[in-house]
Order: sequence, then C-alpha cells, then structure tokens
Amino acid sequence: MSIPSSSSSRTSHFLPLPPLPIRTSPPLYRKPTLITTYSHQPDRSITHDDSSMAYYRPAIIGSDLNYGYDDRVERDESIDEHLDGLCDALRGVEKGERRGGIITWRGMITRIMTAPYEDREGWEMTAIALDGSVYVELHDPPEVRAKRRNQQASWAKQSYMGYSYESFSTVSGEPNQEISEDAPEGWGGDVNTNVQWCNVVRSAIGDIPLCLGGEVDCVKAEPGTPHPGLDQCVELKTNKVIENEKQEFTFHKKLLKHWAQSWLLGIPEIQVGFRDDSGILRSQRAFETEKIPRFIASIPSPHPPWQPQPTLHFLHAVLHLVLTHALPTDPLVSFPKGSIHPENPLPPATIWRFAFIPRRGCEMYNV
Ligand code: A3P
Ligand code: MG
Ligand code: MG
Repeated sequence: MSIPSSSSSRTSHFLPLPPLPIRTSPPLYRKPTLITTYSHQPDRSITHDDSSMAYYRPAIIGSDLNYGYDDRVERDESIDEHLDGLCDALRGVEKGERRGGIITWRGMITRIMTAPYEDREGWEMTAIALDGSVYVELHDPPEVRAKRRNQQASWAKQSYMGYSYESFSTVSGEPNQEISEDAPEGWGGDVNTNVQWCNVVRSAIGDIPLCLGGEVDCVKAEPGTPHPGLDQCVELKTNKVIENEKQEFTFHKKLLKHWAQSWLLGIPEIQVGFRDDSGILRSQRAFETEKIPRFIASIPSPHPPWQPQPTLHFLHAVLHLVLTHALPTDPLVSFPKGSIHPENPLPPATIWRFAFIPRRGCEMYNV
C-alpha cells in the first residue's frame, strides 16, 4: 500500500503488521552456512581470525556474577561502527557468496522479526543499494543514542552480570590470557566488552538471500581446537530465577528474542543461567534453539505468548518491500542518462529509510 507524502520527491510505503495469530505457512528460513569469521581484540581492533573465540565450560553454580565489576572495560558505545567490521570481513569473500539480497547485522533482522510482538520500542533503519545488494543498518540519530546510553547506564549492574556469566562459562582460546590469582574458581578472565567473536553466515528467508554478521558467545570444543562449525556454537543468556507464574510468562516472552537471535545465525543451543537478586548463579538450563517454538506452543496458557509464523511473515514482507524499492533492477534506470561515463563520478545511490511503529507496522521512504 502506498500512502501519499507531503513532498513531491518523497515516496513512502506502508506495511501493516500481520494479524495475530496467523497460521498460514511462513516463508522458510534456510539453514545458515558459515562464510567467514573475525575477531575484535581488547582494543577493539579487528583481526581476521578466531583469536576471540571462547570455549564453553559450564559455570559453577554459586558463582557470584558481580565479581570483577570494578575491573571491567567497556566498549565506547558513542562510536558508531556502522557495518564496517562486516564489510571488511566480506572483502575477503568471493563475490558470488555475498552478492544479492540483504547484507546486515543479525541484530537488525532480530528486530524486524520480533516487531509483531513489540509494543513499545520503535526503530528506524537505513537501506542503501550497492553492487547488487542492499546494505541495512540502524539509523540512530545522536539524541536516540544518548537516550539509549542513559538507559543502559541505569542497568549497568544487571547488564554486567550477563557478561560475567559469559566469563564464568568460558575458557579463552588465548594461551596468554591473564587471570588474577585472587579470582574465584571458574572465572574465565576480566570482562572487556570490546572483545567479540563474529560469524558471518549466508542464508535466505523465502526467496530473499541474506548475508548476516553476528557475535557468537562460545563453542563446544576442546580449548585450542579450531572453529568446530556453527553446529557447536552456544549462545549464553542470564535471567532472574523464576519464582512465580508472572516471571515464568515474562521469561517465555523473552525466549522469542533468544530464539530469533540464535536461529538466524544457526546456533543450535542457548544456555540460560538463572541468578538470584543478589547476582548468585542458582541454576542453568540448556535450550535447543529449534525446539523453542514447539516448547512455547505447548504452554497450557490461554494463548501462547508468541508464534514463529508472524515473525517470519513480517520479516519476509519487510525485506521484500526494502528490496523492491531500494534495489534498482536495472542500474541504468537509477542513473540518469549519460551519467555513466568513466570520467564522471558515480551519481549518489538513493538512501531509503524504514521505520517500525509499534502496533502499527513499517513505513518506508526515500531520503
Ligand atoms: P544477557 O544475554 O544475559 O542478558 P548477548 O546475550 O547478546 O551475547 O549479550 C551479552 C550480555 O550483554 C547480555 O547478557 C546483556 O547483559 C548485555 N547486553 C546485550 N545487549 C545489551 C544492550 N542492548 N544493552 C545493555 N546490555 C546489553
Ligand atoms: Mg554475546
Ligand atoms: Mg549472550
């Protein structure tokens, strides 16, 4: 559906949310294949290797997830890295493996997928066509970033516990990793959120090819072994101990994001550490990613908190809209006659934005 816009040069299109519940078969999400990996080092620099890959080792129940808070090093979130790391990694990849469809962070696709169940937080993304693909990134004006950083500051302690659980659940692959002698048993090393291990995969939603980059927490393999493949990857999460039905319902709702995040990269297992209010790890439970939707469907409540069908339908619809408008089918159509000449600079590509309005849908317009 197209809606008229105020400026004559601006076109906009509106895509409503799918009705809930929806039972028609959704487009298939192809099993992701790994195309490359890279590592962010403690100073945030990038190396094209697996040096930041960590090995899973179950955390010890009773670990104090507050440990190391004052020694943490946090990534400078005021720096917008755009798609730099991903584009850099793709330079070393054969064109055929990356060209076509959508190239973006896994986090962007998670946001689009979970939008049908998101009542509060809107977002806006930028889409730009280049060399036969459409690159998608978050459009985050400075004031939005500042607001988000303020919110994050108030959750600093809780957020830290997620990282500290990662440390208690992993062994670094770096043989020279220093661990303080005073550290508690099972501590994997001080938290530095600059350090990340990224995997880049190729997949597709229905007929739309995808190339996605995302952080992977750890692998199940003997420390020191090379990348054992996506099938051995594990996502780590923390949650408060569940003590009543309301908390259980909240956790089941959260499983939507955990499922989407891991499913998109082809990560088969999510390990959830349950902590009490004071930050002590009380229990942990492994979830098989592919079984989460069936687990949610089996919950005997008036209705399950979510279903995968609307998320996949909406993802396909949004990306179809983005590709249809942002990707010129014939490059000559988007470049004015005579503009393509070896001595002429390339005309600028059209930049599109698409914004999610909670409970309503997605609006796309050119900038
Ligand atoms: P939890 O996952 O246990 O919540 P991820 O799970 O994606 O690997 O991220 C690791 C941890 O980083 C999270 O632990 C959470 O504590 C923190 N984190 C991730 N995204 C965040 C965000 N947008 N704001 C604040 N903290 C975040
Ligand atoms: Mg992570
Ligand atoms: Mg995690």
